[in-house]
Amino acid sequence: MTETQALTEPLDTMIRLLSFEGKQNPYPLYEELRAHGGLVRLGDKHWLAVGYEECARALRAPGLLQTDAAMQDLRMPGWREHSSWQWLTKNMLFSNEPDHDRMRRFFSSAFSAHSVSAFGPMVERLADEAVAHLEKAAAEGAPEGVDLVEELTYRLPIAVLGELLSIPPEDQPGMHPLIKAITTSMDPVGDLSQLNPGDAAMDKLAEYVADLVDRRRAAPGTDLTSAFVKARDAGSDLTEEDLVANLMAVIVAGSEAPQDLLGNSIRIAAQHPEYAERIREDAEFTARFLEEVLRFDPPVHALNRVAGEDQEFFGETVTRGSAVTLLIASGNRDPRRFTEPDRFDPDRPGNQKQLTFSAGAHYCLGAALARMTAETLLPKLFRRFPDLAVVGTPGFRDQIVQRGHDRLPVTLG
Ligand code: HEM
Repeated sequence: MTETQALTEPLDTMIRLLSFEGKQNPYPLYEELRAHGGLVRLGDKHWLAVGYEECARALRAPGLLQTDAAMQDLRMPGWREHSSWQWLTKNMLFSNEPDHDRMRRFFSSAFSAHSVSAFGPMVERLADEAVAHLEKAAAEGAPEGVDLVEELTYRLPIAVLGELLSIPPEDQPGMHPLIKAITTSMDPVGDLSQLNPGDAAMDKLAEYVADLVDRRRAAPGTDLTSAFVKARDAGSDLTEEDLVANLMAVIVAGSEAPQDLLGNSIRIAAQHPEYAERIREDAEFTARFLEEVLRFDPPVHALNRVAGEDQEFFGETVTRGSAVTLLIASGNRDPRRFTEPDRFDPDRPGNQKQLTFSAGAHYCLGAALARMTAETLLPKLFRRFPDLAVVGTPGFRDQIVQRGHDRLPVTLG
């Protein structure tokens, strides 16, 4: 933006960002917001962190809290009538200390980098099966293309979770609409009735997970659900409700964002055959390429925090109860942090400093698993289908917190 151009009012930009069209390409709108500085005031009690440093520091600021039940009372009166947020506020992501730490400690070693490295052969096998399934679906489907969201990018992450948690393959496709509806509850809502689809989906998923827990308790196996049940029953400080809420969080967080990472990565590589070629041969390049996708076109764009007390933040007074929305996808495009941020450059130094897995106490528990799944699939896919091509210009869902393709039609060549 040149100095002679008038700045657009942040509220106008936000209104356009929250429209369906805005969500198709939000990046120019983030630039408009950053023209006001890294921390933008939207209203009396609402701030936007849009710069890299502002987002990075907000994620680690002890006075900026997750939207737990007490904070939701300040931010979204009436939320207690909605089971989506009733359940969300019971998981570790939407909790603050000491509850967050208590729950995270219980689950964290199962998903540590060390544990995840042992899942390698299983992820390899499931990625091979997913590629074989795609070939079959394409052969049976219409010649104009096969939808990758339906036939690949959801299937692989849920198959991995299915194997880990003991969710039978026949139950996995039916979970997709539930997961999709639940993630819409995390988007800004104009009216609380917009939570209704997420409420219904959450109730169904809760029933399924409670039943899964009962089944594994009655007949334990070698899966993680059985291990979690055993550890809980052996006298941990986790309630049965904590167990169900966090298993749901793992299922939802562990499928939708990985699905969108796979979708965005495959789209970008298919549109730039020079990347697809390097992915086929060079595992280190694939890892760097994925970090750049996470920076450039991330599956998660926005996170919410609430000020638990009056505080100074980047020279501004943020009062107790103020909402602070962290537009991490804007931080990833901040020219003060990344040179020529709108250029996709897999060889960019420092792209692993992207904000997409969050930072601080809530740093993504599944980051190692998500990276491994994508690093395993991509080379297999582009080796098997070197001429894979995206059909048309695929659209994005009407969502901004978790942003990804609704459908991603491709031809396999
Ligand atoms: C590309 C894929 C993924 C992305 C972009 C992603 C992103 C994120 C982000 C941004 C947060 C923190 C939100 C905040 O600070 O408010 C988070 C937390 C979390 N993620 Fe992921 N995630 C991904 C994959 C996964 C997977 C595969 C799992 C399954 C184990 C998972 C489980 C979780 C859990 C349980 C939390 C809560 C951690 C806590 O509150 O301490 N995620 N994720």
